[in-house]
Amino acid sequence: MHSIPEPDRWIVLKFGGTSVSQRERWDTIGRLAGERAAEGRRVLVVVSALAGVTNALTAISEGATDAAARVEALADRHVALARELGLDPAVVGERLDVLRTLVSEPRAARRPLDWQAEVLAQGELLSSTLGAAYLSAQGLDFGWCDARDWLQAVALPNQNDWARRLSVACRRDVDARWRSRFAAQPAAMLLTQGFIARHEDGGSAILGRGGSDTSAAYFGALLGAECVEIWTDVPGMFSANPREVPDARLLTRLDYAEAQEICTTGARVLHPRAVKPCREAGVPIAILDTARPELPGTRIDGGPDTVPGVKAISRRDGVVLVSMETMGMWQQVGFLADIFECFRRHGLSVDLIGSSETNVTVSLDPSENLVSTDVLARLSEDLARSCRLKVIAPCSAITLVGRGMRSLLHHLSDVWATFDRERVHLISQSSNDLNLTFVIDEADADGLLQEIHDGLIASGAMPVREAGVFGPRWREIEGQLRRRPERWWQGRRDALLALAATGTPRYAYNLDVVRARARQLKAVQAVDRRFFAIKANPHPDILRVLVEEGFGLECVSAGELAHVFSVVPGLEPSCVLFTPSFAPVDEYADAFARGVNVTLDNVEALERWPEVFRGRALWLRVDLGRGDGHHAKVVTGGLASKFGLLVDRVEAFLDAARALDVRVTGLHAHLGSGVDTPDHWREVCDELGGIAGRIGSIDTIDIGGGLPIPYREDDEPFDLEAWAAGLAEVKAAYPGYRLAIEPGRFLVAESGVLLLTATQVVEKGGIRRVGADGGMNALMRPTLYDAWHDIHNLSRDDGGAPVAFDVVGPICESGDVLGLQRPLPAGTAPGDVLLVADAGAYGMVMANTYNLRALPAESVLVESKE
Ligand code: LLP
Repeated sequence: MHSIPEPDRWIVLKFGGTSVSQRERWDTIGRLAGERAAEGRRVLVVVSALAGVTNALTAISEGATDAAARVEALADRHVALARELGLDPAVVGERLDVLRTLVSEPRAARRPLDWQAEVLAQGELLSSTLGAAYLSAQGLDFGWCDARDWLQAVALPNQNDWARRLSVACRRDVDARWRSRFAAQPAAMLLTQGFIARHEDGGSAILGRGGSDTSAAYFGALLGAECVEIWTDVPGMFSANPREVPDARLLTRLDYAEAQEICTTGARVLHPRAVKPCREAGVPIAILDTARPELPGTRIDGGPDTVPGVKAISRRDGVVLVSMETMGMWQQVGFLADIFECFRRHGLSVDLIGSSETNVTVSLDPSENLVSTDVLARLSEDLARSCRLKVIAPCSAITLVGRGMRSLLHHLSDVWATFDRERVHLISQSSNDLNLTFVIDEADADGLLQEIHDGLIASGAMPVREAGVFGPRWREIEGQLRRRPERWWQGRRDALLALAATGTPRYAYNLDVVRARARQLKAVQAVDRRFFAIKANPHPDILRVLVEEGFGLECVSAGELAHVFSVVPGLEPSCVLFTPSFAPVDEYADAFARGVNVTLDNVEALERWPEVFRGRALWLRVDLGRGDGHHAKVVTGGLASKFGLLVDRVEAFLDAARALDVRVTGLHAHLGSGVDTPDHWREVCDELGGIAGRIGSIDTIDIGGGLPIPYREDDEPFDLEAWAAGLAEVKAAYPGYRLAIEPGRFLVAESGVLLLTATQVVEKGGIRRVGADGGMNALMRPTLYDAWHDIHNLSRDDGGAPVAFDVVGPICESGDVLGLQRPLPAGTAPGDVLLVADAGAYGMVMANTYNLRALPAESVLVESKE
């Protein structure tokens, strides 16, 4: 056996216009290339023209009247950069002369395509000449090579002359000789041009838009490179456009098809044409950030182990829909062919298609088409024989991209719900199972991406917990993310294990946390009165702490009222609110008898039980016509919810009240629970202020509760400052009212944990399950709302590498699940203590004795010393 010589291990680096326009950027190029060469790779650097130069050359090639002046401006620009780089400007002298000759020669008048290509090619030739001279002057072993000697344009059968010169494809069937000749170039590192290739007539050819990415991809493919690195000024591809969705995630790994789809439908970081050569040659692509090379970037390869799920959503505006009423011709042989022939004749390339018995609707993507009213009128005339045309524009195409879209449809209910208010003109699911597109009116698209992105994450359709695919959020990268602080129980393991030893299931509360949250709210100046919604957690110690901290208590039943008066000695009735829903009438009578503040939300009660209400003061709860919340079941505004009086019934309520001599002194709205937009309360407050003005007798405006907490590791803490600022602003507009709030969750959720003991660990068909001695009976939230609670194995905090377990309870229902695919120590075993975090709100109160299992126990872990 004779040994075959090791082929060179090439790596291709591509830098765009902004990366080659300044000296320090060239230093970065030199450093990155040098590092790779030091690791034993041969390096090929592909560069674009300086930023803006291709646009200037395009104008010249298209016959700009001031071509000569533009050329001189370009010359000045390159000479200035040469000086900045410490080079003699003569290095670009010859090339600038070529450009000057091009604009003065006779062809300039006719502007044939071959001449245009020569003009356009000069930008890259200039930038690469400067760069190679500079890098060599820095002592780096860099050689310059002319990309046209290596990339050969090929004519494709359906290309017109323009495309054959100015948007070419290149040969990819090079032989070993090509490779060895390329490798024989003497320098360790080579610098070449993107965007240009050799035409078969020996002149220049242009690769078209995104050409530099495509050049790098061709070179990578031809050289069988280890990787093609596309260096840009963004961290990589994201799950959505970060400008619209600041929480978009960096996509750290995609397969070629997904990447291609994402590039085609939105992201501009990589040109879609660049994917194919690398895909066919099996060369990975990496998108990296020149300013932040330490970030993981996006790696694109053909790995078979890609995770199914939605990876990205994108939006394209300016889409034109052409809807054709087909008058019964549909399904006749050749009908579609005739229609599409018309589109072809008018130079229109069709993107999406939807069809029914009598209608065919297609979309025209503005980036591929020149759609003018003129063209459409002519198309319509042409098609008049076979169908009636309707143009719907402007539209937005919202696309979900990811592998395995078909098997995800059941996860997309939130996405469908997002579209409930918009008119969806067309839905298209590609048969490659990678893309699902909705076309809606452009006017409806604003804000939608954010909503869909949230919905996809909440439903699990976008599997952001897959660390191999989803990287940090854009906001996190930009340093704008506020981190969830360490949780109290992380330092209290021994105490919690000792408590668990006294019996589980058991809730444990830390009163210091309750006090800390209470003080955070007390610090909010705009709020005059604070009540705790005791339904979240009526534990006596918690109520006492909150009353000590100056909170009143909000109750919703006679039971809650009796409870607060029995456990908080000396409680002032005026500090208690009674805000029931559809309660039996004697509970109102009971509340009046106790002297607490009663809130009513309908006219019917006044009419039916006048004697209960006559002469009383009441608060009125209104429904502002919409709601919000962490789950549909906790949204308490809008027609679908049973709470609140619609605003257009306020007059009727006031009439009925006047007839009974009832004074309406407070105005209340609570539109949902777990609302994470701080603006929500500002808006509620503003609207209530407006209504209060019309009523006249109001002294207090109550904007409800609903403040969220960060349940998930990557949830941000609620932005209390933004919340407070919003309230202060509205308060200033309505200085005459006292402002009240009545949160529950925010005050107590994080103070409580649920301690459970693992009962059995079972593997079934590849799924590991750990059972606990409490499930939906002890904590209903996961079953009822798909709510997330972190789950930890307290007994084994060093239990080795985590593996995924479904955490289930002992109840005979399949919904008895506390968490799916949770990372727990591989050695998790019966007897281990499991901690379910953030269970202090709506935990114990909603526990039940289903299957006749005992209610959980409760302990207060820390007696506050203050
Ligand atoms: N005010 C009224 C009139 C309410 O109905 C509620 C909660 C609150 C205040 C307090 O809302 P909070 O600040 O806690 O969001 N069981 C569900 C939550 C249901 C909330 C019911 N009403 C859960 O576990 O998420």
